[in-house]
Amino acid sequence: MIKIAPSILSADFSAMGKAVKAIEEGGADVVHCDVMDGSFVEPITFGGQMVKNIRPLTRLTIDAHLMVEHPKTQIKFFADAGADVITVHCEACEKISKSYLAETLELIKSYGVKCGAAVNPDGGAEKLYDVLPLCDMALVMSVFPGYGGQKFMPETLETVRKLRARAKEIGKGDMDIEIDGGVNAHNAAEIRAAGANVLVAGSAVFGSSNVAAAIRAIRGEN
Ligand code: DX5
Ligand code: ZN
Repeated sequence: MIKIAPSILSADFSAMGKAVKAIEEGGADVVHCDVMDGSFVEPITFGGQMVKNIRPLTRLTIDAHLMVEHPKTQIKFFADAGADVITVHCEACEKISKSYLAETLELIKSYGVKCGAAVNPDGGAEKLYDVLPLCDMALVMSVFPGYGGQKFMPETLETVRKLRARAKEIGKGDMDIEIDGGVNAHNAAEIRAAGANVLVAGSAVFGSSNVAAAIRAIRGEN
């Protein structure tokens, strides 16, 4: 099932409630929350408080993408705030220890929250193979994390294809594979064909004058 996940990174932070309502009314499936700590990536965005505040406003899935160092320390905040999915970067975890990613995924699950593992454009699918059995979702970054409005990197579609094939091999053929970065109406068809079924879009949705039309276009409905 194709899910459209507008990223609130590109929304007006002074009117976030309005933005979340607009994407829900516009037909989105997921609210993608880009959490940045100013260390794993240069910018700082928001913490669990943002999720806590938007939680009562929407029935959509809240998907927290943690672009943070030491992600284990943040899980309780986002789980208690009401996130439905929490995704952490293999690159942040591998700096700490070989087992840290799996431990963090288990910690997320212990809160009854779905867990995801993310890989940067230069990482490759193989970096997620070991933990794929643990994951509810795999996130393929199609830009280097930190900023919205960047250009989609088509070479990352190979990572999507490999992860979808690997998921099938381990009996999780219909697991969510999310793609994040530079997704728009022009590349969405190719992205869906490669096997991504959760499409994050920040600037393509919030930069549009018609949120509903932008979401439909990325979903492939005109
Ligand atoms: C990068 C962010 C962005 C954002 C999507 O750290 O994760 O990829 O979600 O932004 P757009 O859709 O504008 O590239
Ligand atoms: Zn993201």
